[in-house]
Amino acid sequence: MRLTEAEFRKLGYQAVDMAAKYFVEVPRGPVFQRMHESERQALMNMPMPVASLSGDEILRLLGEQILPHPMGNGHPRFFGWVNSPPAMLAVITEILVAAMNPSCAGGDHAAIYPEHCVIRWLMNVLGFPIEGSAGLLVSGGSAASLTALAAARHRALGQLGIDVRKQGVGNHDRLRLYASTEVHSCIQKAVELLGLGSDSIRWIEVDEDFRVSLDHLRRAVREDRERGWHPFCVVASAGSVQTGAIDPLDMLARFAAESNLWMHVDGAYGAVAMLDPHSRPLLEGIERADSIALDPHKWLSVPVECGCVLVRDGALLRDTFSLVPPYIRTETGKGIGNLPWFAEYGMQQTRGFRALKLWVTPANAGTLGLEQQIARQIALARYLAERVDAAPDFELRSKGPLSIVCFRYVPEEIAGNEEALDALNKKVMEHMQADGRAFVTSATLAGRFVLRACILHYDTTEADIDAMLQAVEDAARQVME
Ligand SMILES: Cc1ncc(COP(=O)(O)O)c(C=O)c1O
Repeated sequence: MRLTEAEFRKLGYQAVDMAAKYFVEVPRGPVFQRMHESERQALMNMPMPVASLSGDEILRLLGEQILPHPMGNGHPRFFGWVNSPPAMLAVITEILVAAMNPSCAGGDHAAIYPEHCVIRWLMNVLGFPIEGSAGLLVSGGSAASLTALAAARHRALGQLGIDVRKQGVGNHDRLRLYASTEVHSCIQKAVELLGLGSDSIRWIEVDEDFRVSLDHLRRAVREDRERGWHPFCVVASAGSVQTGAIDPLDMLARFAAESNLWMHVDGAYGAVAMLDPHSRPLLEGIERADSIALDPHKWLSVPVECGCVLVRDGALLRDTFSLVPPYIRTETGKGIGNLPWFAEYGMQQTRGFRALKLWVTPANAGTLGLEQQIARQIALARYLAERVDAAPDFELRSKGPLSIVCFRYVPEEIAGNEEALDALNKKVMEHMQADGRAFVTSATLAGRFVLRACILHYDTTEADIDAMLQAVEDAARQVME
């Protein structure tokens, strides 16, 4: 476990050299490269070494077996899912995090306070109240929504006279949660994990822009009340995963307040568009949510894992989770006692020092830098949508307000044949992913298979968009041949 200072420096510099070379080489190579079966097997089945491998040997193995096969998100022509490249300075500072290796459960050491700081920064960006609220860094958007919905369930059952922590959900399972059909699957996972069962979700239709229909929502809540359900929560998307749609947050906030519903906003992808003055009006109302999930490891390029949950009623969040066994009880001002422990506000006891990478990234970019980056990526999405719209063999299927565009290839030969178009576009996606020129993933919109491009790389340019469209066309021609 212990290295001499000289060994540490030598290996550390070597690792930095490897990372620097990686950053230079990644954009020059294929976006993605399938691994050979032998390479997969070598990684999966390596026996646990009995004798020590040297640091040199280990770095050599990593250089040969791991670094050549990245997921692809470091490449400017990667347009898949919602995965960004890492902010490079945060890559460097992660070594300091690992060196200090603190647990941010709580206590009075320096790693605790940057978390309070970055949470305040995020609250300020969103216009979320700071007084009385609470925030917590978690592994990602899924964990953030699970944490928030646990608080919503705690409040809802409390209002029915049930202490869910003591009594469990039991028979009191007629709580109803409302979400659009476009909401991320992590919401259903959370509802299932919370013991409410997925039948307690009422899916609400979306309009032609993939935004939740307020009329349907109102009707659904009214009907459910008449039938003996207890409507307790509405989940809104601030940047849905398929199209980047933003639900009408302001109207939803008003409706939620009138109807005694907890409003949770899944802003894992899109909430940070609040940094862009042109996008901000679209997100109006987010600041009135009861809870917000956001994911700095998505659009802010904070290295994974880094999600964040914000809850308006901080005391309620603490009531939902706080369980302080005697061995970690502290008193303010004595020993290591100071602020309430983060571990009282969520699931995790031992917690990593996630805050540093989240502190470093905006500190290095500045809010101005982040604003410019987000605005530029949205502009690139508009460019993509325009190019698709103008091309005879392409069809634009969605141009959400953020940095996601959905489209498909529609050659004249099979125009109008929906099944054939689904099959062709699926094959095009698979071909492109394996081919490595540009990487797109898919969405299902109105029952149809479409290609989906999400622009989150800080180096992507119009030339990369052009190259991606050319790759789609070439893949389609090859598939059709
Ligand atoms: C809108 C949205 N919500 C939630 C999630 C889940 O976030 P995570 O993968 O960080 O758990 C994602 C992931 O892509 C997402 O796009």
